[in-house]
Amino acid sequence: MVIYMIGLGLDDEKDISLKGLEAIKRCRHVYLEDYTSILNVPISGLEKLYGKKVIPLSREKIEVADTIFSHPNEDVALLVVGDVFSATTHVDLFLRAKEHNVRVQVIHNASIMTAIGETGLELYKFGKTTSMPYFEKSYMPQSPYDAVLENLMHGLHTLILLDIKRSENRFMSVNECLRQFTQIEDVRKKGIFSDRSLVVGCARLGSEHRIIKYGTVMQLMDSEFGEPLHCLIYPGKLHFMEEDMLKLWKV
Ligand SMILES: C[S@@+](CC[C@H](N)C(=O)[O-])C[C@H]1O[C@@H](n2cnc3c(N)ncnc32)[C@H](O)[C@@H]1O
Repeated sequence: MVIYMIGLGLDDEKDISLKGLEAIKRCRHVYLEDYTSILNVPISGLEKLYGKKVIPLSREKIEVADTIFSHPNEDVALLVVGDVFSATTHVDLFLRAKEHNVRVQVIHNASIMTAIGETGLELYKFGKTTSMPYFEKSYMPQSPYDAVLENLMHGLHTLILLDIKRSENRFMSVNECLRQFTQIEDVRKKGIFSDRSLVVGCARLGSEHRIIKYGTVMQLMDSEFGEPLHCLIYPGKLHFMEEDMLKLWKV
């Protein structure tokens, strides 16, 4: 048995690499992990190009990984939106495969972790990436705020990934994320999410309909970003070339 872990890239069925496509053709079973990220096409679009049935995996299924290991004598493909190792779930699967003595072949692709380079911010100058979850009545974690604060102390940029509730078809927007940051600001009062703080909002990077906007928290909170997926960047210390690039996206 071989498990092919194949990155699909960021936009549609055509972002797969030729190597990835060839690997799919060799597999009897093709699964898709699409609860940590989504493509801009339905599964039927993938099936049409790949010529295989593509079975979506729920969080539970993939974390137990039983499904993947239930075909001991056949090759299996696990398709991951973006790149394979930009979510810890997939490291877990890789480790389990090693425990089962199963060969794994990884085929990489573009990820949000590198697509943000299009903003002009230096990838080498990003610090810890953080995630903003949807707040609930008694759940308002401040860890995303702490991550930005800590990165800023070292002059580093922060990538903030936004919550996805796949089962409810809910994808956090830049606007919602900024509103939540201002709620934390009201408690922490460090001034990093004041009305005048400058941030970068991105939507659908990697697609021809991508949006990048640079402006104050106030401006971006009221700005239209359209369909998911969105992410937010809090810039740290800027080099003049980064400043020049950000000017291109000013609202
Ligand atoms: C947990 S990450 C998964 C990353 C994915 N495996 C990859 O390599 O790109 C998913 C989050 O990244 C952000 N994201 C992913 N793709 C994006 C895109 N094309 N444009 C903007 N944000 C994106 C969103 O905030 C989304 O909720």
